Amino acid sequence: MEKEFEILDEEFNSSIESTGNIVELENIRTLFLGKKGKLTSIMKQLKELSNEQRAEIGKNINRLKTVFQQRIESRKEVLKKKEFEEKMNEEWIDITIDPFSRDFGSLHPITTVQKRLEDIFVAMGFRVLDGPHIETEFYNFEALNIPSHHPARDMQDTFYFEDGHLLRTHTSPIQIRGMETIKPPFRIVGPGKVFRCERTDASHDSCFHQFEGMMVDRDISVAHLIYFMKTMLGEIFESEVEVRLRPGYFPFVEPGFELDMLCLLCKGNGCKFCKQVGWIELMGCGMVHPNVLKAGNIDASEYSGFAFGLGIDRLAMLKYDITDIRPLHGGNLNFVRQFSIT
Ligand code: DAH
Repeated sequence: MEKEFEILDEEFNSSIESTGNIVELENIRTLFLGKKGKLTSIMKQLKELSNEQRAEIGKNINRLKTVFQQRIESRKEVLKKKEFEEKMNEEWIDITIDPFSRDFGSLHPITTVQKRLEDIFVAMGFRVLDGPHIETEFYNFEALNIPSHHPARDMQDTFYFEDGHLLRTHTSPIQIRGMETIKPPFRIVGPGKVFRCERTDASHDSCFHQFEGMMVDRDISVAHLIYFMKTMLGEIFESEVEVRLRPGYFPFVEPGFELDMLCLLCKGNGCKFCKQVGWIELMGCGMVHPNVLKAGNIDASEYSGFAFGLGIDRLAMLKYDITDIRPLHGGNLNFVRQFSIT
């Protein structure tokens, strides 16, 4: 019987050492200590022994039972630790990665100002229209009351294609395209890129951005124009603004104006910001010329309207105190990131 115990003990030890996980270990437990296990089957043989032998062997069996249980428990601890470590290695998350290190990018200041303008006008009942960068002379000039002989064409020299198309010099063609599809009364705005054959300097570039607006209804007057312009500028500069109109010539409006805003810094006294003028020149505007209404199939005796066109780049420069247009159009991210609004 001694020998049998020894063999069993060895067998148990090597089985336990070879277990790789807790399920296997539990199988070993059943194999040795279970109802039909190896130790139990020895116990069944006790019946055939004398009382003395039975007591002796019974003791041994009980000792072995306790030892086996202890070994199972300690092996269990080892396996548990091993399984946990394996899991940790498989499922780890590197919490040291900085979640804010990713570069998300942001809106360009020109886009920010354009979107703000769109929001302001949409809130006042205007529709935002788009137009092509490549235009015909009809939309860019003729329909806007600028015939081919007109000297105003000189001021808006641009890039022509061989087939007679050109890169639009202003966003005003959007007025004509708008009138083709929308019947009065209407309020529209049209932002976008415009192009001119311009020598580049701190305030000029051959490509820049404009924001066009037009409102056509019955009995529209200069008072409406001033109201909408003041509201827009007040929203952009986040303060009450004062404006003034000076006569300005644009063939598509009559009367035509240049609109100035009282300098927000010096309130008209003259400073570096307004170049000692006290006023800041902002945009062209006026009452839509009857010829333009006619080109849009609108009865000028029934309807009237105002229109305006402003430079988005210039507005962004004023808002963010940028003194040169070139970096605004350049690819230097260090520059534009200063104005990043995400
Ligand atoms: N298109 C003009 C320009 O580029 C700006 C302008 C002036 C637009 C008067 C208008 C306007 O709609 O009424 O210089």
